Amino acid sequence: ASDMLVDSFGRFHNYLRISLTERCNLRCQYCMPVEGVELTPNSHLLTSDEIIRLANLFVNSGVDKIRLTGGEPTIRKDIEEICLQLSRLKGLKTLAMTTNGIVLAKKIPKLKECGLGVINISLDTLVPAKFELLTRRKGHERVMESITAAVEYGFNPVKVNCVVMRGINDDEICDFVELTREKPVNVRFIEFMPFDGNVWNIKKLVPYAEILDKVKQRFEGVKRLTDHPSDTAKNFMIDGHHGTISFITSMTDHFCAGCNRLRLLADGNLKVCLFGPSEVSLRDPLRAGVDDLGLKEIIGAAVKKKKAAHAGMLDLAKTANRPMIHIGG
Ligand code: GTP
Ligand code: 5AD
Ligand code: SF4
Repeated sequence: ASDMLVDSFGRFHNYLRISLTERCNLRCQYCMPVEGVELTPNSHLLTSDEIIRLANLFVNSGVDKIRLTGGEPTIRKDIEEICLQLSRLKGLKTLAMTTNGIVLAKKIPKLKECGLGVINISLDTLVPAKFELLTRRKGHERVMESITAAVEYGFNPVKVNCVVMRGINDDEICDFVELTREKPVNVRFIEFMPFDGNVWNIKKLVPYAEILDKVKQRFEGVKRLTDHPSDTAKNFMIDGHHGTISFITSMTDHFCAGCNRLRLLADGNLKVCLFGPSEVSLRDPLRAGVDDLGLKEIIGAAVKKKKAAHAGMLDLAKTANRPMIHIGG
């Protein structure tokens, strides 16, 4: 481990999220506007070699967990090769992916062979017609099949990410909890967060306390588990259920104090906070021939500028950021 990944508040960043593409085969409302977003020209996106070179540098400095995101990471043609190369980096303990599950099921065996160890799948509704409304595309059944396939192939736990929005899917909270009765999945209820182009509105946010209340009214034996200090989620078990439920409370009870995450975007920018507008290009110095030591200095300086916490719910909604589709969560 090196100093490069420690910020001015003493937080050590061992978790790198790499966005592999800005493209997606869905058009989720909370992620992008209906007209889509401007895409970075291909020549400005990191090649797989550049991704591996940068990832190697991070892993050498102490990163031991990499999560692949997008856009939708599975639509990248060289996804298996990227997984294989990353999983071979010495020091990496966890190679994870967050995916919408649309084309995942058939890729799972190969991805597993290539070293993918952890899968989180987004699913915001159990009602097919609502899925089409939310994602502006078809595919509910394929996502359900991907969740089943991930469980069958031994990914454990398979995390199911559900962004809760008032008037849209808050009537399905208990149905989602019901999924955990037989399936060994971890259903995670996520507070709706503001990003450019997602028409966030505080009225659509369902606070964690309210979701938990609903769950406790319906289910007996809901118990808090102990979390890791850098976990994004507050975790709970329910008596008799094989799976668990969690809450990601970015808006009403942020977890910035334990943050261990950095982001490498598809265009090669390093983003030190999900909500921090400040980014620094690693692609440009890389292409200009800067060596590892020089790159480490650039990364270290960016990490040192990381703020203690995000600006708070209401200010966030007013601050310019990127659209979520560019950031990957
Ligand atoms: P694990 O590695 O399994 O803990 O997953 P994760 O929660 O880090 O990643 P995932 O991609 O599954 O994201 C789930 C939700 O957490 C999404 O809504 C993300 O936007 C949110 N999230 C991930 N990292 C951060 C973060 O650093 N800050 C905040 N506020 N939210 C985050
Ligand atoms: N608020 C909260 N979570 C979001 N995600 C995407 N957009 C938002 C948002 N506006 C989640 C997706 C995915 C993860 C990477 O981020 O559901 O699971
Ligand atoms: Fe695609 Fe995921 Fe964004 Fe939905 S949330 S549009 S699935 S990247």
